[in-house]
Amino acid sequence: MDDLLLIFSFFKKFPDQINHFKNYKGHDPDSLRSVSQFASFTTNVVSEFLDILEIAGDAGTLKSRAAQLVEDHKTRGKITAKEYDVRKPFKVLFRNLFFLSNV
Ligand code: HEM
Repeated sequence: MDDLLLIFSFFKKFPDQINHFKNYKGHDPDSLRSVSQFASFTTNVVSEFLDILEIAGDAGTLKSRAAQLVEDHKTRGKITAKEYDVRKPFKVLFRNLFFLSNV
């Protein structure tokens, strides 16, 4: 799996979201790969995403873990729960995981 491709596709699909990210603000999605922090950032996000996926079969744990993810983002990127729609990255990530993993 290509972590860079997964997060890159999120920014391509939701370019307005880039402005939440201090290191990438103002960048065109196509130039993100040249930003030094982008590689480690994508690895950290995908790693956390996979940790969450592992507990997806346990509805109660998943619910509290998802709530924690939203809470963490209030300080990470000043993202409010209203702005934060976890369904979008999940949809994009899964689409890439299953259909574009050979790109
Ligand atoms: C499955 C969903 C998501 C996961 C697992 C996740 C995970 C993470 C992780 C691990 C970091 C810290 C990365 C690092 O500093 O190296 C982070 C930072 C951040 N995330 Fe998320 N995230 C998710 C979705 C989102 C969404 C939907 C948004 C925007 C609406 C968002 C906005 C941010 C911002 C702004 C930061 C701070 C970046 C910075 O310090 O420049 N995240 N996220």
